[in-house]
Amino acid sequence: MAVGIFDSGLGGLTVYRAASERLPDVPFVYFGDNAHTPYGVRDADDIYELTKAGVSRLFEAGCDLVILACNTASAAALRRMQEGWVPSDKRVLGVFVPLIEALTERQWGDNSPPREVAVKHVALFATPATVRSRAFQRELAFRAIGVDVETQACAGVVDAIEEGDLILAEALVRSHVDALKRKMPNPDAAVLGCTHYPIVEDDFKAALGPDVPVFSQPALVAASLADYLERRPEMRGSGEVGMFLTTGDPQRVSDQATRFLRRRTEFHAA
Ligand code: DGL
Repeated sequence: MAVGIFDSGLGGLTVYRAASERLPDVPFVYFGDNAHTPYGVRDADDIYELTKAGVSRLFEAGCDLVILACNTASAAALRRMQEGWVPSDKRVLGVFVPLIEALTERQWGDNSPPREVAVKHVALFATPATVRSRAFQRELAFRAIGVDVETQACAGVVDAIEEGDLILAEALVRSHVDALKRKMPNPDAAVLGCTHYPIVEDDFKAALGPDVPVFSQPALVAASLADYLERRPEMRGSGEVGMFLTTGDPQRVSDQATRFLRRRTEFHAA
């Protein structure tokens, strides 16, 4: 009964941590495509091929359900994968929908027509590929009307985090928040639309100021996964053991993950 978590690199560990705290009995198989990170600067075909390769590896590891923790993969590849590639006995779910349901105060599976919601001005921080895909606005339009979304493609932040340079990441976050505020001075809410960004969530909060609520995915995705597994317990899959897989250098990735999760974390070659 293993569940797969896919990310382009280390950022998905924010989702892994929240999910494993919420569901301590579920073994998770984590796949980080560290050799090809960042995805945010790649084109959609490239992201589609890389994501399929990683998800296939998770199917092989006994996962029938895979969470694409990566927003960029969710934005650029998920729909195409679900339409023609995912086998009928497997599921691949993305991270946008739980976030948008929280933002629009909807319960899971509420498919009623889009309606007016409390938030009117939303700031979206994401990778260049996610911003370009407009997937966030598309999913939002199914659920809400009259919401103005301003986007900021946060170039460089993922690389700085993957390199472990949190000082550079903080400086970049500040300049991206300033750039966003020049376009939308008073957002009602800010969305961290990349799994790497919760690692620097405090920097986003400090730069945005106390009046802007920040929607961050890990806890929302974990809650939605718990809910899904309750409704679909058969999707827990046949895998029995949790593990961490990477396409990158296992030693280096293990060291970075250990620092981030604050416990020894061993990655193996995918
Ligand atoms: N962590 C990923 C996301 O949520 C992508 C980062 C990247 O590889 O550019 O978008």
